Order: sequence, then C-alpha cells, then structure tokens
Amino acid sequence: MLNIIVCKNYEEMSEAAARSVLESIRETPDGLLSFPGGDTPLGMVRAFVRDVNAGKADISKLHYVSLDEWVGLASDVVGSCGKFNHDNLFAPLKYSFADKFVINGAAADIEAERRALNAFIEKYGPLTVSVLGIGMNGHLGFNESGVDFDLDAHIIPLDEVTKGVMQKYFDVERHPTQGITQGIRQIMAAKKVILLANGAHKADIVARAAKGAVTNEVPASVLQKHPNSYLIVDEAAASKL
Ligand code: GLP
Repeated sequence: MLNIIVCKNYEEMSEAAARSVLESIRETPDGLLSFPGGDTPLGMVRAFVRDVNAGKADISKLHYVSLDEWVGLASDVVGSCGKFNHDNLFAPLKYSFADKFVINGAAADIEAERRALNAFIEKYGPLTVSVLGIGMNGHLGFNESGVDFDLDAHIIPLDEVTKGVMQKYFDVERHPTQGITQGIRQIMAAKKVILLANGAHKADIVARAAKGAVTNEVPASVLQKHPNSYLIVDEAAASKL
C-alpha cells in the first residue's frame, strides 16, 4: 500500500523524508541505502547529512548505492547523479559508509558496470530504504514508461519526456540517449520505499501514480503494490490527489 503524507512545503517534505530514512537505518544499521539524483531530493539529502553529522544515526556499518546514471556521463560531470552524490552526500558527511557503489555512466564496459551494480545490491541487499523521485512521465530512476517490472539493473533508452526535461541538469548541452538504473524488481524488494515529489508541475503524474491504474506506462504506479511504501509530497504536488 502506498501511504500518502502531504507536507506543507518543500522543507517539510524534505525533513519528513530524512526522518523516515533515519528511522530505517537505526532499525537496520548494517543495511543498504539508496538515494536518487535530480532536483527533488536535495533538501532531504541535506537534512540527512546534518542529522548524521550531529550523531543522530551511525552509518559506519551502512552501505550505499546510487539509483541511476546517464550513460556516457562520468561522476565528475555537472548533472550526473554521481556528482550529485559526491557534492551533497559524501563530501559534507563527516563519516563514511561501510561500502558504497556509485554507478559510473562513463564505464568503458557499461554491461560490466550493470553487472557490478547488481552484484553490489545482491551482496548487501535487499535495500533497507529506497528513496525515489518521480519523472514527468512517472519514471523511477530510469525505469521509463513501458519498462519490464521484472528487470534488475539494466540499460534503457531514454524516453522523449525525459529527453525534454534533462537539459535543466547540465551546464553545457548534452545529449545522453540511454540511462543505467536499478530495476523495479530491486526497488520493490526494498523494506521501505519513499517516493518524493514537490511542485505543481508534478501534480498530474503524482495523481496517476498514486491513484491511477497500476501500469508500466506509469512505472511509479507499481509502488501501490509495495507493502511499505510512502509518497511524501508537498501541497502543490498533492493538489490532484
Ligand atoms: C531524473 C532521474 C530520476 C529522478 C527524476 C526526477 O531523470 N532519472 O532519478 O528522480 O528524473 O527528477 P527531478 O527530481 O529533477 O524532478
């Protein structure tokens, strides 16, 4: 069941999500944590870092895995999920995870990178908590519309909606055509899933994901079937629920 938590604004959404993450890792301190990239999770990541640095949770036995990456982009490129992880999570944290895996979109052998991502999740998983954002087409990570819900990590062509939105992340013009992502099977195996969304532009797709039919045309709708999933949204993104 997808539990819906409506928060007044972005800050409250971020704080609620960080609290929920901390709760999970206190329960399973040696588990596996995953955060998305994108604009949505920044406030949550900052709140998480602040609280871990303040000693509110111990991450020394915890493992971390990134959700997705643009194929072709290295982790130091502006707009890559790897750089988001480095700048907002690893660099400001005073403590280190026990082990971490950040997808290298520029790996010479992207198929080997995909296998390594699966192996890392296999080794330390299932995910203790998977935090996700939602794309304008309802994607989770790069599980684009039409994705096979049974897949583990995979490489997938970017959908036209994603291509239309993606330039906002980059400082120079870039045209990635594929994404590498954790699969829906791995996300659905997580003990807890937190889907974040803010802003009026997400209201339609949030309503389709939370209240519409469960269909791979709107991949986030699969979370309605997860036993412990939470949609944490601000009022603007909740306006069509
Ligand atoms: C991006 C990423 C997702 C992200 C989503 C929403 O393309 N692949 O992992 O959650 O789209 O992004 P944003 O938070 O910037 O709206």
